[in-house]
Amino acid sequence: MLVMAYHRSYNLSTITTRGNNVYGPNQYPEKLVPKFVLRAMKGQKLPIHGDGSNVRSYLYCGDVAEAFDVILHKGMIGQVYNIGTKKERSVLDVAEEICKLFNINSKDVIEFVQDRPFNDKRYFLDDQKLKNLGWEERTPWEQGLKLTIDWYKKNPDWWGDVSNALNPHPKSAINLADGAQWSFQYGYSRLGRSFTEVGRSKTNVRFLIYGKTGWIGGLLGKLCDEERINWEYGKGRLEDKRSLMEDISRVKPTHVLNAAGVTGRPNVDWCESHKVETIRVNVVGTLNLADVCNENGLYVMNFATGCIFEYDKEHPLGSGIGFKEEDKPNFIGSFYSKTKAMVEDLLKNYENVCTLRVRMPISSDLSNPRNFITKISRYNKVVDIPNSMTVLDELLPIAIEMAKRNLKGIWNFTNPGVISHNQILELYRDYIDPKFKWENFNLEEQAKVIVAPRSNNEMDASKLKKEFPEMLSIKDSIIKYVFEPNKKT
Ligand SMILES: NC(=O)c1ccc[n+]([C@@H]2O[C@H](COP(=O)([O-])OP(=O)(O)OC[C@H]3O[C@@H](n4cnc5c(N)ncnc54)[C@H](OP(=O)(O)O)[C@@H]3O)[C@@H](O)[C@H]2O)c1
Repeated sequence: MLVMAYHRSYNLSTITTRGNNVYGPNQYPEKLVPKFVLRAMKGQKLPIHGDGSNVRSYLYCGDVAEAFDVILHKGMIGQVYNIGTKKERSVLDVAEEICKLFNINSKDVIEFVQDRPFNDKRYFLDDQKLKNLGWEERTPWEQGLKLTIDWYKKNPDWWGDVSNALNPHPKSAINLADGAQWSFQYGYSRLGRSFTEVGRSKTNVRFLIYGKTGWIGGLLGKLCDEERINWEYGKGRLEDKRSLMEDISRVKPTHVLNAAGVTGRPNVDWCESHKVETIRVNVVGTLNLADVCNENGLYVMNFATGCIFEYDKEHPLGSGIGFKEEDKPNFIGSFYSKTKAMVEDLLKNYENVCTLRVRMPISSDLSNPRNFITKISRYNKVVDIPNSMTVLDELLPIAIEMAKRNLKGIWNFTNPGVISHNQILELYRDYIDPKFKWENFNLEEQAKVIVAPRSNNEMDASKLKKEFPEMLSIKDSIIKYVFEPNKKT
């Protein structure tokens, strides 16, 4: 409707297409056809939501691509075209046909699992208008299905580790436990969710979030949707003050959440050889944002780092004495950490800023290469040092609540306690892969394969724990939010 309005009011050249169930090679295996094909290839059951009577119109991807081509060249500006097929089949039929092509007895493998909420019974499109342009469906279902199966047989690892997607009810990147998880995955807002987990307060807030394409920024956006918070991503660049001011006047936020910054690819070693770029974003940019927000009387939450400390005489390894919020950073071994420590010190002068010291973030998405667990499970050799860490699945909802409560100042944003590399990898072996093995090396050997030294420390999380007493210790949090939901053994 909005697109049509723009066409009608401003003569914008638009054509709208409406498609529904596309299938074929290369499709992400969360969708029904590739999921069943890959599960059948692995000799697994084919889980059907509900009784399998829901019907869908499956159209082969090549035919859909041709439809776009025809519409692009022959369609009329301002029109809407349905891309569909009149041939419908039930989910149960699809499962049975896949069984037939794999020569397996459908009765042995089809299992009926809990239906998902609002699982539509049918979508049916009239494609006559598209046919009038000369398009027609050219790939019959039987042929398309065979082409699809052949492709997945030839490319079984195309999508990497898709074990989560192959679950009957896949878990999303962020694990929000039970009801939240459910609605999050299927795109429904959870109605009437209790706010007891973190004692959430109900306020009228509007968030402006920076870091749209980033890991933490992406998760924050999803969480805000799930929490039905009014929010928008910033379009501006941190080093460009004017663009930040434009964002503020456009979005009119009550709070700004900053998860933007350069973190280096493939890792922070990048900052050693890109010092000016690092300063431009992490120093000038972060200060710009705090300053613009200050001038506009706005709260800013800055996702900063706790990698500005290292074990020392007053906080020795294994002592249980962690660095507190008021402690002065003592780790400047890497350029990234050095600039982050400088900025933290300067930001203390801004009364509108909340600084969250994040460390070695972990999430339930074990396929994410940024996840600390994923990283160390893929290294050839790892050091074994206890550290404080941040379990994002548990702590990002807490960050949102902190913003709503207008909590400011510096916060050690880690789960209480420490966990070592080996303790994590032992859990990985016990929950994910019983055959998993790893090798340790010491700090001197590690220094040979990295450019800048890394910080190792324990942070004192008691300030955060006092505000959110239900927060779990690092080991319990990792088990609950990462290993239990991904358990394979
Ligand atoms: N991941 C970690 O291990 C870790 C640990 C502790 C703390 N942190 C901190 O948490 C924050 C978020 O981390 P992350 O892991 O989510 O980082 P990330 O995945 O590297 O994402 C960084 C985000 O910042 C944006 N960005 C970069 N330069 C920008 C600029 N000049 N203006 C506006 N946006 C810009 C990027 O957008 P474009 O793609 O458009 O450039 C991207 O969306 C960072 O400040 C990081 O230092 C991360």
